[in-house]
Formats: sequence, C-alpha cells, structure tokens
Amino acid sequence: MSPNPAAALVAAELTKTYPAGRGGPPVRALDGLSVSVAAGTIVALLGRNGAGKSTTVKILTTLARADSGTAEVAGIDVSRDPDGVRHAIGLVSQKSSSDPMATGRENLVLAGRIQGLSRSAARGRAAELLARLDLADAAGRLAKTYSGGMARKLDVAIGLVHRPRVLFLDEPTTGLDPEARAAMWAEIGRLSADEQTAILLTTHYLEEADRLADRVAIVDAGRVVVEGTPDELKSELRGDTVQVELVAGAAHAVAVLERVPGLGEVSADGTRLRARAESGAQAVPGVLAALDESGIAVASVTVARPSLDDVYVRHVGREFAEEAAA
Ligand SMILES: Nc1ncnc2c1ncn2[C@@H]1O[C@H](COP(=O)(O)OP(=O)(O)OP(=O)(O)O)[C@@H](O)[C@H]1O
Ligand SMILES: [Mg+2]
Repeated sequence: MSPNPAAALVAAELTKTYPAGRGGPPVRALDGLSVSVAAGTIVALLGRNGAGKSTTVKILTTLARADSGTAEVAGIDVSRDPDGVRHAIGLVSQKSSSDPMATGRENLVLAGRIQGLSRSAARGRAAELLARLDLADAAGRLAKTYSGGMARKLDVAIGLVHRPRVLFLDEPTTGLDPEARAAMWAEIGRLSADEQTAILLTTHYLEEADRLADRVAIVDAGRVVVEGTPDELKSELRGDTVQVELVAGAAHAVAVLERVPGLGEVSADGTRLRARAESGAQAVPGVLAALDESGIAVASVTVARPSLDDVYVRHVGREFAEEAAA
C-alpha cells in the first residue's frame, strides 16, 4: 500500500463520522484525510478546534476505527494488526497519561513494564529518559507536584519508554509558557534526529509548526487542505501582507479596500483588516487614502512578508490566532 518506502506512517482517505448524540446531528470528524510521515522527520497537523486532529491521532494509534480509508504505521496495517501497531508506537495524548500519585521515576518504570521491558531494563530506560528530558532532579517527586512543563515532559518520556519508531504528540505544548515550550521544541527536534523517530504532532500554534516541523499539513473540516514544508507553503504566497488595525470595526471596510488598486484577498476580523499586495510599501498610501475618504479611522498599518498565518488564511479562509486562543 505504501507509495513511499521510507514512510513510517501512511494514512489515506480516512473518514470518520461520530454518531448523533442526544438529538444532535452526527459529526463528520474526518472527511478523506491523508497524511504521511517519513522516518526521522516531523510532520505537524495544524488546525483549529474540532478540525479532526485528535481523531486522526486516535485512528492511527488504534484507539478509534476509521469508517473508511487505510493506514499503515511502522509498516503495519492499523485495522488488521492493532496490537502490532501499539508496540511500534508511542503516544502522548492531549490529556496527560501519568499517574499523579506516583513519582516521575515510578511512572516511567511502570510504563516500561507495561511495554514488556524487564525490571532492570525499565529502570535503566527510566533513568536515561529522566536525564535526557532534564527531569533527573525531580525524579523522586510525585507527578502531581510537577509544573505544567515538567508534567508534559514526563508524558513525552512515557511515550518514549519502549523506543517507538513512530511517536504521536497531540498538542505537546498547549498550556506551556514560552520558555517551557521552547525547551520542548528543542527536545522534540533532538528526538527525531537522534533516534530517527518519525513524529506526527498536532498543534494550534503556527509558530510551533513553522519552527519544528519538516512538513506541515493544514487540516480543516476533516481534510488536509494544503501540505508542504513551511518554506514551500510560504513561498506559494508572493508579495506582502498588509495589515490594518482600525480604531473601531467598520462593516464596509473590506469593500473599501477591495477597490484599492494592487490589493487582493482582503479579509476582516474585528478591527483587523488583512490584504495581499504585490508590493506592500506601494499599496499603503492608497490604502490610507481610501479608508480616510470613507471616514474610517486607522490605528496602525503594517507590511510583512507572508507567514504561515497568511497561508492558513489563504487556505482556510478565516484567521487562525483568535480561534485558537478562544
Ligand atoms: N467521541 C466523540 N463523539 C462525538 N463527537 C466527537 C468525538 N470526538 C470528537 N468528536 C467531534 O469530532 C470533531 C473533530 O474532533 P477532534 O477532537 O478530532 O478535533 P481536534 O482537531 O483535535 O480539536 P482540538 O484542537 O479542539 O483538540 C469535532 O467536531 C468533535 O466535536
Ligand atoms: Mg484535539
């Protein structure tokens, strides 16, 4: 099935509909989602709440079954040999999996034993992971006393105990402060390089996908709407982004900007307007004049090279940051 022999994970055309609950309609969580990850690389599934990221992870880790489509993880078909898949993968789910009433070390030794390691092998691996994730000093403390960043690192260590070929990280840094997030990024990057682990991670954070992932797949409504390296995705967008912050929201602002020569793809989000221009600097005077003539007060104007944010807006049609923060 695998079109790419180096792929550690290949999923094709996955669909999944959750049945209707309490009078609500059924939810089509996945609608033909395809993704693949090569050994030693990191792929990010980037999308808003409810896009289908966790459902994808659940299917690929055998916790849920797809209605249709195919998936092979570490060369094993997820529906034919779920046990085989479980041994080959590590999973760090969106919700923490550690036992709060056990120490970090105990959590890791137990996880190793569950994965079939001998007692001494489990102890050895626990010590190695505690050192590597910079948790050695806290190894003897109960997990419930860990900070958010430490707890998340312990989750990652648990997922790695049996040296999986494929690691799934469902929102590894959500809720972490910027420093803990940067430390986690460094750790994940090292993992994929050192152990040739294939990593599929999900994230709300454009910056995370940009910094960490070799390839990014933007997921919307259960499908991958665009996929590529962060640079490929950004270079698709020629020209500049012009962003205008208004003093107050104005319903007709989009129509006003759409009439400015050289400006396209105008979108609005509250008081923020966004548009694309071949040359941002040349477009700005026209933008200001048009808004001024229409009596719309401007707080600020910025011109920037395209970011992953712009790629997201282009393909999904709505702005990302506000929704992710919601
Ligand atoms: N067990 C379930 N029963 C019913 N509906 C579900 C179930 N799990 C997920 N869904 C629905 O499926 C859709 C996709 O959910 P999923 O958890 O995959 O999204 P996500 O991209 O991981 O979102 P988030 O960023 O919020 O974690 C959503 O509409 C969600 O409400
Ligand atoms: Mg999720």
